[in-house]
Formats: sequence, structure tokens, C-alpha cells
Amino acid sequence: MFVPIIVVGDLLGEPPGSPRPPPLVRWRGQELRCSFRTSPLRVDSGGMADDFKPGLEGVVAVETEIAEPDREGGSLRYRGIDIEELVGNYPYENVWGLLVDDDLDSKMPDPEPYEPAGLTGNAPADLQAETARLSGVWGLGKLNEISADQAREDLGRLSAQMMSIVARSARIADGKTDVVPDDIVAQGQTAAEKFLLRWRGQADPRHAKAIDTYWICTAEHGLNASTFTARIVASTGADCGASLSAAVGALSGPLHGGAPAYVKPMLEEVAAAGDPERWVKDTLAAGKRIMGFGHRIYRAEDPRSRLLKRTAKELGSAQVELAEELEQVALAALQERHPERVLATNVEYYSAIVLDVAEIPPRLAPAMFACSRVAGWSAHILEQKRTGRLFRPSARYVGPASRSLQSVS
Ligand SMILES: CC(C)(COP(=O)(O)OP(=O)(O)OC[C@H]1O[C@@H](n2cnc3c(N)ncnc32)[C@H](O)[C@@H]1OP(=O)(O)O)[C@@H](O)C(=O)NCCC(=O)NCCS
Repeated sequence: MFVPIIVVGDLLGEPPGSPRPPPLVRWRGQELRCSFRTSPLRVDSGGMADDFKPGLEGVVAVETEIAEPDREGGSLRYRGIDIEELVGNYPYENVWGLLVDDDLDSKMPDPEPYEPAGLTGNAPADLQAETARLSGVWGLGKLNEISADQAREDLGRLSAQMMSIVARSARIADGKTDVVPDDIVAQGQTAAEKFLLRWRGQADPRHAKAIDTYWICTAEHGLNASTFTARIVASTGADCGASLSAAVGALSGPLHGGAPAYVKPMLEEVAAAGDPERWVKDTLAAGKRIMGFGHRIYRAEDPRSRLLKRTAKELGSAQVELAEELEQVALAALQERHPERVLATNVEYYSAIVLDVAEIPPRLAPAMFACSRVAGWSAHILEQKRTGRLFRPSARYVGPASRSLQSVS
């Protein structure tokens, strides 16, 4: 017999051990071990126990060798190498090689000549559509029918072209209808310089450094929504263009990749108010969140935030002073409100400042993020091809019980 038990909290799972150990429950932010025992509910999930995790939080769905966010120590390693060691020593395109090929001497290639069809100036939409279109134009093969080498080649061509598409879309958004000639773009030494040349026809070294650092810091971060999307699509055997295009779609939402767009207006609001401490108090009292603070994974300072702050200072950002002042005040207020958890600055806060140094308009932030993530997505698509299995989670049916057609007609 099954006895239903209602637990007012999140069931975190059952610790390993004896056949039926007491369950773990999250209640008011604390993990509690219950003094009673439960039976798993029977659900329509192929006979599996009910392990419902809204948003799949904490569910381990893949094993990866690509990146390791160290949540307690606050560091991020790509294939075992701390990103602190990469910034300033290797340009983004080599970091792409490290993530995709596990080889720092390998590089993302230069984009080949290609004419996008009907760019609109809305960079995420242009990028998603054009990346899918490339599968057709280039006749890309299905991941389950091509070799790993072929998939790697497709991903290199696509990644390079995706950056070019964003640059061309940004140029259209600036109101320019002409295209920067390829021989001008070829004068750039790095992917960041070539990106700027294709967009603006010139590459200020400060801007290139800001973009390069931002791209390296945000190139890969585990199984976030867009990377998961790329792996899901790749797991079906779809081609690399379809997998990357789907990832861009996932990234275009404001909850993933869009926060830098909110940080700059927030700083402008703080500057106009003239009193950061008062602004923080009022914002928290109104139940609002301070953009760029807190993280699902890190329980220490986000290492990317640290690096980006340093870069913003080195590049003489006009906003970094105010950003630091707000950071200090906000950290103190958040610590007072939530002494039980670390709510430090996340990657989005100083990303916004670094992108501002390069004069990137806030609306372009998600597409800039997509440019950096082509490395992580490509690495995960290859890993999925090599080791993965078709994703097929279950849903718990909570709709109406069996009923007659007459009862609804
Ligand atoms: C990133 C984020 C979604 C992570 O959330 P999380 O770790 O799951 O934390 P929760 O949403 O469960 O929040 C836990 C508590 O901390 C508070 N909190 C978390 N981030 C906060 C922030 N930036 N400002 C104010 N309060 C914050 C919440 O209000 C909540 O308090 P409550 O229990 O009194 O309601 C969250 O910190 C956030 O919304 N940050 C602002 C948006 C942002 O910067 N996004 C970019 C992420 S890279």
C-alpha cells in the first residue's frame, strides 16, 4: 500500500546507503534529514521512482572533461587550466582550440567567404537563422553519420562564421549598409580584432583586449541552458549547424546571457541617484534584486568577475569606480540580509563594464555572449557525439484522470 506524504520543501534526494534511508529535504534554505521514511510515488515514468527536480537543478545528466567550476574555491578551469593563466597569454581563438581539441596550439579557423541572406540587425535572431541556414548551404552531414574529425571541421567553420555574422549584423544595426572588404578584415591579428574590423572597419587595441578577455572568461561554463540545448540537439544526431543554432535560441532569453544589458542602466540609475547606499537599501526594501550579484553554482567570488574587474581597471574604464563603490555597499547589505550564503558579484556585473569599454551597446550583449560560447558549445557537441546518449527525461503527468469524450464536448 502507498501512503501519500506531503513534504513542504524541496525533496533533494535520498543519500546513498541502506535500501531506504531517510530523505533529504530543503526547508527554508536548510538541508534537513527527515526522521521518517518514504516510499517512492508511482509515476508514469517507465516504472522509475519519482525524482521530480524542477529545472533539473542538481541533476547530473552528463560527465564532462571540458570545464570545472570550483564552487568553493571560486576558480574556473578549462581542461584543467585556470582561466587566470589564459587571459593575456593566449588569444580567444587558442582557448577555443584548448576547449575543443584539448590543444592550445590548435585554433578556431578564420571565417571563409560567405554571404548571409537578409540580415536584420537583430544579432541573436540573425545568428540563429544564419547558423541554421549554413547547414543547408554547406551541406553539413548528420552527427551520427559523420566522423569525429568531420564534426570538428564543421564546428570550426561554423564558429568562425558565427562571429562574422554577429559583426555584420551589428554593422547593420549601426545603420551601415556597406560591407567591410575581406582584405581589411584580414589585417586583424586576433579573432577579436577581426571581429571589430568586420563590424566597424577599425580595431582599437583597447576594445580588442576588452572583447578578447570577455570571450575567454565566458567561453565555457558547464551544462547551462544553451550548452544543454546544444547537447540535446546533438544527441538526436542532428548536424552541427542545427545544434549551434538551437543553442543561440536558448541564449537569447534574458535569464541566460542577458544580464549585462541590465547592469549598465542600473549603474546609470545609481549615478543619477547620487547615493549608492540609499539606492541599495531602497532596492532591497522594494524586494528587487541587484543585477550582477549571486550565482547558482559559486559560493565564493565568481573568478570571472575578479578577472573582468582587473581588466576593466587596466583598460581605464570610466565606470569601474562607481561599479566598485556599488559592489562594496551591495555586498555589505546582501551579507547582512543573507549571512547564511555568499551573494558576491557574478560574471555579468563586470562583463557589462568590460563590454562598455569596447563601446558594445547593451542590446548586443547576448550576441557577444554567443560569440564566446561557440567554443564551449562546440566542445560539448563533440563530447556528446563521442560519449553521449539520446536525452529522454520523463514528465510526471498531473493532468485530468481518464474521462469520456462526452464530458468535454
Ligand atoms: C543568479 C541568481 C538567479 C542565483 O539565484 P539562487 O542562487 O538560486 O538564489 P535564489 O534565487 O534562491 O535566492 C536566494 C536568496 O538570495 C536573495 N538574492 C539572490 N540574489 C540576489 C540579488 N542579486 N539581489 C538581492 N537578493 C538576492 C534572494 O532574494 C533570496 O532571498 P529570500 O530567500 O529572502 O527571498 C540570483 O542570484 C539573481 O537573481 N541574481 C540577479 C540576476 C543576475 O545577476 N543574473 C545573472 C546570473 S550569472
